[in-house]
Parts: sequence; structure tokens; C-alpha cells
Amino acid sequence: MTSMEIELKQISKYYQVPGKEKRMVLDNLSLKIESGDSVAIVGPSGSGKSTLLNLISSLDQANSGVILHGEREIGKLGEDEVAQFRNRNLGFIFQSHHLLPQLSLIENVLVPLIPEKDKKIKVEAEKRAQELIDFVGLSGQISQLPGQMSGGECQRTAVVRALIHQPGLLLADEPTGSLDKQSADQLGDLLVSINEKQKVTLVVVTHSMDLAKKMKKIYKLDNGKLSKI
Ligand SMILES: Nc1ncnc2c1ncn2[C@@H]1O[C@H](COP(=O)(O)OP(=O)(O)OP(=O)(O)O)[C@@H](O)[C@H]1O
Ligand SMILES: [Mg+2]
Repeated sequence: MTSMEIELKQISKYYQVPGKEKRMVLDNLSLKIESGDSVAIVGPSGSGKSTLLNLISSLDQANSGVILHGEREIGKLGEDEVAQFRNRNLGFIFQSHHLLPQLSLIENVLVPLIPEKDKKIKVEAEKRAQELIDFVGLSGQISQLPGQMSGGECQRTAVVRALIHQPGLLLADEPTGSLDKQSADQLGDLLVSINEKQKVTLVVVTHSMDLAKKMKKIYKLDNGKLSKI
């Protein structure tokens, strides 16, 4: 997979809780992210940053507007096609690493390959896993359990797992939110070098201006609108 261009055209998203007024979270918002770009999205808590990532990854649907991944309009794909598209093309990193505590580093990284039936793809991905583990500096720890690793090491493991299918787009929601300053800084640098060397488009949601500044572009989400800063 090569890195992917993403375009949001006039996206609106609101929530309607019974008995309450309609809450507009994203208001007719448009954004083009070029292939290979790195973009930070900042903004106050509750401004809709996670909602925006969920729409980009098609975990959630907009009320109106169009989302394009390259030429592909994800709103037009069926349920199975969306799931397959997400598996093959998108990588996710969250605030908490979500590693399975009973599995070693290498086993955790290979979890996304469990459903893969093609032997050749599996063997290639296993080789890539080793290279990526090297790249993030964890080759000495592949047999360790998450409980035996630091927060930063666990998060780097989660980064490797997100990259195992060579996604064109890497989405990260507060990836440094649970890390100390030094580990956060290291993870930010790692994401930047992955964006540059692995040819993956990167979108990072964060409260940290230190992390945001490492990206090529920064957008602020406020009152349903995006502005470039
Ligand atoms: N399923 C839902 N039903 C109703 N309202 C929702 C739902 N999901 C999110 N919201 C509301 O949408 C708004 C945006 O939420 P979102 O999680 O995208 O914010 P955020 O910018 O990611 O915040 P944070 O920085 O705290 O993570 C919030 O006001 C939230 O309460
Ligand atoms: Mg959020």
C-alpha cells in the first residue's frame, strides 16, 4: 500500500439526544489531506476531534457530506467492503495501547494477521514485523509481556501492530496522552519518521502542542469548524 490522499467534502455531524437540542459537532467541514502528509488536529475537549477521526475511518457515519480515500467514497461501500477496506488500508493508534496482557510483544504485533489465510502474505508480514520492531528499537524485548514493558515501549509496540498491514493511512487519537514527556517526545519523533520512511499519511489528534508541532500541518477544530494554524 502506498500513502493515501483523503478528502472530506462538506461534512456535517450532529448528535440528537432525546429531549435535548440537536448538538452540531462538525459543521459543513471540508479538508483535503495530501498523500504522504502529516497533519495534527488540535482543539478543546468535546470539540469533535475523535468524532472526526471516526468518520475518516468509517467507524461512524456523517449526517451529510462525502469522504474520499483516494478515489474511493467510503459512504458508498457495503458493510463487508468497509471492514475489509479498514483492515487493509488503515492503521490505528489510541491513547491506551490496547495490547493483550497475556501475549508477548511479538504475539501482540501479529494479532492482526490471525484472520489472514494467505500463507505468503503471512510470511511477508512476519518478516516486516521483525523489521518494524527493529525500527522502533524493541528487538531485544520481543518475548516480553506488556506488563514487563514501560508505557512508551507498549505504545511503540502498538505502533508496530498498526503498521503490520502496511496501511496507507495512520490515524492516532491522543497517542501520547498517557506518556511522560520524554516517552511522548520519542513517540512523536517515531511517528514522524514512520510518516517519512514508510510512506504513510499521518493524522494525529492531540492536546499536546509539542506533538502537533512535529507535523507538517496543524488544524484547530472549534465550534464545528477547522482552521489552519
Ligand atoms: N454517541 C454520542 N451521542 C451523543 N453525543 C456524543 C456521542 N459521541 C460524542 N458525542 C458528543 O460529541 C462531542 C464531540 O465528542 P468527541 O469525542 O469527538 O470530542 P473530542 O474533541 O475528541 O474530545 P476530547 O479531547 O475530550 O477527546 C462531545 O460534545 C460529545 O459529548
Ligand atoms: Mg477525543
